[in-house]
Amino acid sequence: MAGVNLVSGFRPELWHSVRPRGIPSGVVGFNHDLVGSDGFVMPATQHDLVLWLSGGAADLVFDEARLAVQALAPVARVAAEIAGWPYRQDRDLTGFIDGTENPTLLEAPTVAVVPEGKAGAGGSILLLQKWQHDSPRWEALPVAAQERAIGRTKPESTELDPKPADSHAARTDQDVFGKIFRRNVPYGTAMDHGTVFVGFCEEQRPLARMLESMAGVPDGVRDALTKYTKPLTGAYYFVPCVEAVREFASRAGTSD
Ligand code: HEM
Repeated sequence: MAGVNLVSGFRPELWHSVRPRGIPSGVVGFNHDLVGSDGFVMPATQHDLVLWLSGGAADLVFDEARLAVQALAPVARVAAEIAGWPYRQDRDLTGFIDGTENPTLLEAPTVAVVPEGKAGAGGSILLLQKWQHDSPRWEALPVAAQERAIGRTKPESTELDPKPADSHAARTDQDVFGKIFRRNVPYGTAMDHGTVFVGFCEEQRPLARMLESMAGVPDGVRDALTKYTKPLTGAYYFVPCVEAVREFASRAGTSD
């Protein structure tokens, strides 16, 4: 696609309805708001389909996105759209390096992709959440306080030892919840911006447990980062492998 990468994800129940054996059992959409211990809410804004287009050239991404919208017009309308862009190589809009504890690209497939022999093999479960940053409040914090909130240093992303219990790195500790693969994307304008959290896993549970932990559901300790960022959306999608999408497309319109 002219140097444009396309990821297509489906509401888990929707993909299950057309390919019952094409998705791991028990995967569900973000169907209910997640309410934390102190009333903090992560809203459920599930849609049927997500397309994520990315590439080095914004004009090509723009053209391909419009072609995709036109191609799908007979069966789908756009419910929401977010335009993202890279920020200072690998930082998110908190100014911290994002992705330090990601599995390497060699390890990522074993973390993010459903293994051979399982229903939905080659696919992945995606958690997509748009987080709006309160940048003025965040930037009013001294850097040391920002570092305590993230659990890592700002310039080099060195893990604090010990990590504060309410730090983001502690609330999402992969040694506790299992590994995921993140590709967060900064979005927005000077006045309204934040992070699109893009997290892939071969299972839904690590993603769901991390969210509960951030909201303080298990123990009443809320992730410090959530005091400066606000989730505006929340959805899970199943991303089938290319062969599964192609196979589905080739049969679309038949009785199967
Ligand atoms: C505003 C939204 C978010 C921002 C700005 C953000 C940013 C960060 C940063 C700066 C780090 C430290 C560096 C790194 O290891 O990547 C980090 C770590 C991490 N984040 Fe987030 N994050 C956000 C939301 C989330 C959400 C919603 C999840 C999970 C559902 C999550 C999961 C993780 C994980 C698993 C780690 C690594 C933890 C470990 O040390 O094992 N993040 N994030």
